Parts: sequence; C-alpha cells; structure tokens
Amino acid sequence: MKKPKRYLITSALPYANGPLHLGHIAGAYLPADIYVRYLKLKDKDVAFICGSDEHGVPITLRARKEGVSPQVIVDKYHKMIKTAFSEFGIDFDIYHRTSSKLHHETASDFFKTMYEKGEFIEKEEEQYYDEKEKQFLADRYITGTCPKCGYEEAYGDQCEKCGTSLSPKELKNPTSRLSGNSPILKKTKHWYLPLDKYQQEWLEEWIDSHKSNWKSNVYGQCKSWLNGGLQPRAVTRDLDWGVPVPVEGYEGKVLYVWFDAPIGYISATKAWAKENNKNWKDYWQSEDSQLIHFIGKDNIVFHCLIFPAMLKAHGNYILPDNVPANEFLNLEGDKLSTSRNWAVWIHEYLHDFPGKQDVLRYTICANLPEQKDNDFTWKDFQNRNNNELVAILGNFINRTIVLTHKHYGGEVPERGTLTDFDKKTLAEMTVIKKNLEKSIESFRFREAVKIAMDLARLGNKYLADTEPWKVIKTDEERVKTIMNISIQISAALSIIIEPFLPFTADKLRKFLNIEKLNWDLAGSDSIIEAGHTINKANLLFDKIEDEAIEKQIQKLMDSKKANQAEQQQAEPAKENITFDDFVKMDIRVGTILEAERVPKTDKLIKLKIDTGIDQRTVVSGIAVDHKPEDIIGKQVSILVNLEPRKIRGIVSQGMILMAEDASGKLVFAVPEVKTSNGASIK
Ligand code: MF3
Ligand code: ZN
Repeated sequence: MKKPKRYLITSALPYANGPLHLGHIAGAYLPADIYVRYLKLKDKDVAFICGSDEHGVPITLRARKEGVSPQVIVDKYHKMIKTAFSEFGIDFDIYHRTSSKLHHETASDFFKTMYEKGEFIEKEEEQYYDEKEKQFLADRYITGTCPKCGYEEAYGDQCEKCGTSLSPKELKNPTSRLSGNSPILKKTKHWYLPLDKYQQEWLEEWIDSHKSNWKSNVYGQCKSWLNGGLQPRAVTRDLDWGVPVPVEGYEGKVLYVWFDAPIGYISATKAWAKENNKNWKDYWQSEDSQLIHFIGKDNIVFHCLIFPAMLKAHGNYILPDNVPANEFLNLEGDKLSTSRNWAVWIHEYLHDFPGKQDVLRYTICANLPEQKDNDFTWKDFQNRNNNELVAILGNFINRTIVLTHKHYGGEVPERGTLTDFDKKTLAEMTVIKKNLEKSIESFRFREAVKIAMDLARLGNKYLADTEPWKVIKTDEERVKTIMNISIQISAALSIIIEPFLPFTADKLRKFLNIEKLNWDLAGSDSIIEAGHTINKANLLFDKIEDEAIEKQIQKLMDSKKANQAEQQQAEPAKENITFDDFVKMDIRVGTILEAERVPKTDKLIKLKIDTGIDQRTVVSGIAVDHKPEDIIGKQVSILVNLEPRKIRGIVSQGMILMAEDASGKLVFAVPEVKTSNGASIK
C-alpha cells in the first residue's frame, strides 16, 4: 500500500454494562493508544475513535434485573468507562455513544441504503417466543444445552464454554431467561445479510490478500470461518431496545446490536469531525486513509468478515487495512470474569495506586497476549516496577539530573571531543529508535516496550562505564561531555517512552524543561542544546512495597472465597426416610483394581473393585474429573446391594459414593484412614 495520508484508528466499543478491567485494556485499548501516540508523535493525521456500545441483550437483561430502564444502566456505565479511560491515559479523540441521536440516524441511514440497494434477504420464519412475557427470545434471552459440548447454560448466540457461535434454534432444551418457561415457536420476519454470497463474490479473496500482513491468529480465525462456509446472518431483532428498523410497517423491530455497533465508529467520527472542523469522509471514504481496528479475539469475525461485508455492500467505504486482534489476558492463572469478580478493575486500581497509571500500562504492555493468552500477576507488577521502572529508567534519569545540577547548576554543558565509546553510544540510540519503529509498525508492542527500555539500559551502561562521579576529580572537561550525552539520552527517552508511559514522559519533559518533541528527533545526537537549563527533579518512580501487593492478592482471594461460598450453597434435604430404609443400604469400603474408559462416552469409566466380598464391575460417571490410570489402587465407598443395572451394555454391580468439591469436581467420599476392604460403612 502507498503511504496513507490519514489514519482512522478504532478500538472496540465496550458494552456499557459494567466497569473496565485489565482484560479490556490489554485487548483493544492499550495497544491502540500506543499506536496512536506514536503516529501523533510523527505528526500524522490521525482520528482515534471509540465509544460505548449501548445496545444489546446483556444491557436490557441487567436493566431488568435491577428494575430500571436500559438508559439508566448505559448512562451510569458510559460515564464510568469514559472517566476510567481518560484517567488511565487512553487518549481517544472522541469517546462517543451508540444511544446518541447522531448514531441512531447514522445506523438507520446505513441500513436504509443497504435495504434500498436490495442487499438484504427477507425471510419469514419461526423463532422462539415467550408467551408469558410476550416477547421473542433473541440471543441471550434464551439458554439451553450446547449441541457441540453439552454445556447446559449456553446462550442463544454463543456457548461460553466451548466458544461456538450458535443460533437459538440449535439449543437443546431451550429456556426463556425472562420467565424460565419453555418458549413456543412463532412466525416473524427478519432481514439477513447474505454472507455466503459475499464469500463467493469477494470476501474470501479479500481475506486471502491479507495473509501476509495480518497477524496469524487473526487470519487463521477468518479462514476457519470461511472454511466452514459463511451463512446468511440476521441483522434485525424483535426487541424494543436498539436502533429501530427504518422500514415502514415493521415497528417493534430493531437492528441487531452487532449491526449497529460498528457503525458507531462512523457516527463517532462524524461527531469528532464536526467538533474539529474536519470532514469525516476523508477518513472513511477516501483511498488515502488507512483504517485499523484494534479488538480482542472474540470480535474477530465481526471486524474481519461482517463489518467489511456491510461496508462493501453499502458502498463508498474503505475496508480495514489491518485488524490486530489480541488474545486474552488472564489474571493470576485464571480467566478474567466479571461475574466471578476475578478482575483488576481500572477504577479501583486508579484509586489504590494514584499516579501510577504507567506502572500498570507498562506491566500490561510487557505481558500483552499478542500471540497467545497470557497471564498478569501482581508479583510481576511489583517486579516490573521495582526492578525495571525504578532500577533502570528512574535510576538513569535521576543520576543524570542530579549530576547536572551538582556540577553545572542545571545548565546543560558543552560537549568536547567525542571518544569512540561516546560515538558508539550515540549510534546505538539511532538503532534503538529504528528497531522501535519496526516493532510498533508491525503491532509488536511487547517487543517495543522492551526496546524502549533498552535506551534506559544504554544510558545506565554509559554512566557506569564512564563514571563521571570519579572522573570529575581528574578531568572536568570530560565530565561535561559525559553529562551532555546523558542529557541527550534522557531527552530521547522522553520521546520514545511517551506511547507506553505518557504520564512519565510528561514528568520527564518537565524535569528537562522541554516541550513535547517530534518522534524523529529521538534519532538525533543533539536534541537539547548546551546552555539549556533543566529543572530540579524528584523521583520518576518509587518502590512498591510487599504490603500493597499483598492487599491486592487478598482482594482476589476474597472474591474466590465469596464465589465458592455462593456455589456451595447446599441443596435442601430430601424427604425423610425410616431407620429401616437406612439399614437396608449396604455400603462397604473397596479398592479399585482396574479402571478403563467406556468407549464412545465422555463420562463413564468401567471399574473393577475388590469389595472384600468379591471382585465386581461398576460403571461410574467420573471420567470428566479422573483419569483411569490415576485412580487404580484408590479406596472407595461402594453401595454393594444396589440392583445390578446395564449401562452401555455393561452390567454395573453397585455404586461409588462421590462428593462435589467447591469447583464442582467429583471427589471420592472415603474413610479418613485406610481401612480393610469389605469394612462396612454405617
Ligand atoms: N461491545 C462489543 C464487545 O465488547 C464490541 C463492539 S465493537 C463494535 O465485545 F465494532 F461493534 F463496535
Ligand atoms: Zn458448547
């Protein structure tokens, strides 16, 4: 592609139904912010677009649960999310919202244009309907058993266990989340986007053309969708929260949230352009503009296939040049989860660590899940701060500034003749800058932040090798050169750390008493001239003590406990039985002699058990939690006088007693100490 004149950078619009956490930041926001800050340092024409995604079933369900209108929910979270982004230094040019009038108009017009061009297929068909609530059950209004993995609480649009994307009719045992009843089927009419047709006409070819410049995880996911064959996809819903379908006679229908939300990028750009005297079309409808979507991996299909299909079908729009999606960031070895409160909430972080935005930005950046899922731990956060930000970057800057004040009253000294080592150091600065550009431009931000830190490492090494604090006693002229070069490195640092650590860069510029400088200056060997006076400084970073970290870990442990307690709510007792009923049960201690999986089943293991009375076969549904080879030799409690039953053609003579642990895993219910086989349990 020729050099673009303009950049349109978007970050996925977060749903306004909960606060922001670490995982959001690592997916779509920090990488985009770094990229945009870099482009802006290079004086590029950039629009950085985001906003709240305010439609969709999760929002209406939440509103219902809290007994308020959806607008109340989105107003609350829109404000909260917007504030968190801004305080965390995610510096959008606009943070818009999809409940705005401008967005409704834009999305509505977009649909109308496609409709009038005849792009949609109209289909009347039967869909699930809740008779009690008088409502069709789209997407997350319905749950049931996943046809792929058997998970019993899969949603109508997706199974969160296995990740399969679903439609309500594929669910087994569908249940309405509104009334809890089984829904009936009822006729309704909807519009579909013919993705199958686009796949044949151009979409597959277009994806293939990006094989070499898109990330392999992104390209791979697109290919797997395409290989499965795209299906027409409904773009309207029978709901009352959303952008109304702008076709007469179809009141009561709205655009599917994934149809209107990406159009939110367009409406946000319009709002921004209006406020800033720009023309939005220059960014969306001009071939010299480059569109890049930053997203998390769960959004790939929408940004790489569906939205491009919409843009092309509408006509006039450019298509994304790249979609650098990230994988997921886990927390302390466990999947982030809003409902389990397993998260680092950005607003809480800002409260607990005031002024330390950059420490979290740095740690997230160093751990970005660019190629595969990755883990955030508080210990790593502390180490990154203490051993890298404090010990490397902070230390270098502090020594440079303190020495400049001590020997020259803060005035940058003139440099004399350069030694080979000086020249080598200055040349190294240029190399670092170039490598950094390469990494950022290919969306490798983990690598990039490490390279940026290499410049501080270079500075430290320079001071350690030249030892100005010693040389000052013998060669005052030489120290002038050393300090001049150290100041140049500091100034270059103030430029190249800005994308990653904007708050620190700002502080550093104040220390150095300079304005924000253009990126390209970072490759120059004299950024600050001799004679310039720098300011007194305090520390760039301070140490984070164990105590602060333990507090955070404790917070997480508390969530874990609360969840377990919730899950462990015991079932109510069954009906009473008589003593005689009880003594009828003959429960013995036995030992597993053999164990093997029952073929073609997920759960069953065939066991041979020494009961003390005999050796017998029992079929038990424990294969999900236990491997046959791990349980041979284990003692178990077995009900031995249960009527034999045929299970999968095998006669099972008895039943093993199991309990569920806090995580739902089946564990053996056995005597406290090893007992002889055949011992009776009473
Ligand atoms: N709200 C969606 C999510 O959090 C993302 C929407 S991105 C957009 O997964 F393109 F639709 F805006
Ligand atoms: Zn599933």
